[in-house]
Amino acid sequence: MIRARITGTGSYVPEKVMTNFDFEKFMETSDEWIRTRTGIRERHVAADGENTSDLATKAAERALEMAGVKPEELDGIILGTITGDYPWPATSCIVQANLGAVNASAHDVSAACSGFLFALSSAADRIQAGNAKKMLVIGAEVLTRIIDWEDRNTCILFGDGAGAVVLEAHEGENGILSTHLHTDGNQLELLYQPGFSTKIVPSVEALENRDYFLKMQGNEVFKVAVRSLTEVAEEALEANGMTSEDVNLLIPHQANIRILEATAKRLKLLDERTYINVDRFGNTSGATIPLALDEVNRAGRIKEGDIVLFNAFGGGFTWASALIRW
Ligand code: ACO
Repeated sequence: MIRARITGTGSYVPEKVMTNFDFEKFMETSDEWIRTRTGIRERHVAADGENTSDLATKAAERALEMAGVKPEELDGIILGTITGDYPWPATSCIVQANLGAVNASAHDVSAACSGFLFALSSAADRIQAGNAKKMLVIGAEVLTRIIDWEDRNTCILFGDGAGAVVLEAHEGENGILSTHLHTDGNQLELLYQPGFSTKIVPSVEALENRDYFLKMQGNEVFKVAVRSLTEVAEEALEANGMTSEDVNLLIPHQANIRILEATAKRLKLLDERTYINVDRFGNTSGATIPLALDEVNRAGRIKEGDIVLFNAFGGGFTWASALIRW
């Protein structure tokens, strides 16, 4: 059986670090409030002129180098992002050009914080169907440009970053075992960005309404997120005849520590098997999972044959999981 196997990982975060104490200087908040409610201590912020395609390209170069794959060998690039350089064309087209991946198709996936897993699923399907041999999957965001820096409920949560994986066709038992994707478009307005769209066109009124920024009803999102993240992880295990005892590593979407811990507890994985780095990067939406994966991979924490579980939840709502035999 042909499976899609991750043969390289890479990540990149902007140099500038913003701590919780930096927020204390311009809004009514505190390091203590942010840490206890979200688990976040600091996040990285893109420099002026540094865009999602730049972060994505650097993460991709590192993943390609680890895999020993040349850009021109790639059959396709899929990028999960909600903060692309332009409304269109897709930011992956810019990455394709930056890399010189002249034989690769390129398109973006818009599934908010689940974007990387939606992209991973499509790339794995192409490989398993025999339509591609080498794919590059990226999650990259510059969220700090769409958050409302006057809204203390949201601006403290997010950061910028990118992660990437190279997927290659592999004959055998190792690779992506299954992916599971879900959407519920009925609760869109609990987490979304109204502006920069064809529905809310540029206007003084839209500017005054702060329509160009991310909007979120945090409490409502919290409840749905924990339930969905748990269910979609259980779905992955059940589909493969496994239980949480079989899992060596859970890499969840890094939204905030309370969502992470509540989900891991329900899955009976609230121990060293759940990887958490939200304290250092905040919520980087589509980038959290590949960024965390690259950290654990480069630290040598994953062995061949390990069972690795990913789960994510985000705006849409969208939620997804992937189960991998490394
Ligand atoms: N500093 C100080 N006080 C604050 C801040 C802040 N940064 N933000 C809000 N508060 C205040 C509120 O104004 C409120 O004050 P009030 O009682 O006087 O009105 C009080 O703190 C409590 O506000 P809540 O919204 O009830 O705080 P809560 O404990 O729910 O925490 C949070 C808010 C962290 C956003 C939480 O709802 C949450 O984690 N939601 C999940 C949303 C999330 O992570 N979304 C990310 C995108 S989706 C995803 O990735 C899964």
